[in-house]
Amino acid sequence: MTSVSANRRRIIDLRSDTVTRPTAEMIEAMSRAELGDDFFRDDPTVLAFEEEVADLLGMEAAMLVISGTMGNLVCALSLSPRGSSFIVEASAHIQINESGWPSSIAGLTPKPVEGVAGRIGADALQRAIAEAKLRLSAPPRLLCLENTHNAAGGRITEPGHVAALADIAHASGLKVHLDGARIFNAAVALGRPVGDFTQRTDTVTFCLSKGLGCPLGAVVVGSAGAIQEARRWRQVVGGGMRQAGIIAAAGRFALSSMVERLAMDHDNAKLLATRLRDASLEVDVEAVETNIVFAGVPSDFDYDSFQSELRASGIVTMPPKAGRIRLVTHREVSASDIVFASDMIAKTFDLAKRQTRSAQAHSAAPNAVY
Ligand SMILES: Cc1ncc(COP(=O)(O)O)c(C=O)c1O
Repeated sequence: MTSVSANRRRIIDLRSDTVTRPTAEMIEAMSRAELGDDFFRDDPTVLAFEEEVADLLGMEAAMLVISGTMGNLVCALSLSPRGSSFIVEASAHIQINESGWPSSIAGLTPKPVEGVAGRIGADALQRAIAEAKLRLSAPPRLLCLENTHNAAGGRITEPGHVAALADIAHASGLKVHLDGARIFNAAVALGRPVGDFTQRTDTVTFCLSKGLGCPLGAVVVGSAGAIQEARRWRQVVGGGMRQAGIIAAAGRFALSSMVERLAMDHDNAKLLATRLRDASLEVDVEAVETNIVFAGVPSDFDYDSFQSELRASGIVTMPPKAGRIRLVTHREVSASDIVFASDMIAKTFDLAKRQTRSAQAHSAAPNAVY
């Protein structure tokens, strides 16, 4: 009997690297995992994984969590008291895409700072700390960094700059959390050990469920004290787990087999960006440092017709936000998929623009004529 999945049409899904499904080898590793109860700290696979991750990042302790959002939340809860403020890049995921937990759950006031390519400048940080320390402001206790920076297009903050920002923050009594959802993309792109990007930060979150291909999961890493506190907060927010070794096994497999291949996603992103730019789309190829590409769209761009045309060729994208469409490369998109998808996107893009123009001409007609 032919299976349903064998009949499934090939989909080129450029919405996010989170769409990656576990490989057969990863599922095999999950099914073989030795399990216990993580609440009692006797799941051997979780214990081994957390220790390996802490070593890899050069920190004292690590803890498995369900998601990157939960990781960021429990780290912030551990590092900064209610009623304080935190400094964050204005378009950081924590600031715009985590449903407002800083105010609704953590009792923190954000102090957003505009970055350049997702990077907060040292002077801007110093100014923000000084402003947040004024008598009528919520006292600043935390700096949140993001690397790579999603909304900036997967841009990298290099380790020296992370360390410089962390030093400034620490000198003013702030703790430093790194949202490193895609930190392995940064490490692979610059050919540096991942631990270079985490030194001098107090806590780090990284995701297993993005380019690393796990079905779920993220890890928080930090000092033994910070992770002990984060473990308590994970319980508070309902994130305690039991036979979590099946997730840890996927994570262990990912760290040994899925990191180096991220370079292919970066090559594919460059290829996509170059081909779209060559087809006259508004794309900054130089800005593509990892696996995210942004293409500008006109304000009246007809996304619904664009996406329904593309769907017919099996290509899926996200609706534009702030005048740009985000396209993300990952393990389930090959170089030949990129060639096909870029041709189709360029063709459909032109069509969507022409349709927009003709709709405008029609709607303008009554005024013009009558
Ligand atoms: C930079 C960044 N941080 C955090 C997250 C949140 O991760 P999750 O979807 O696992 O909650 C994402 C998700 O896309 C992200 O891009």
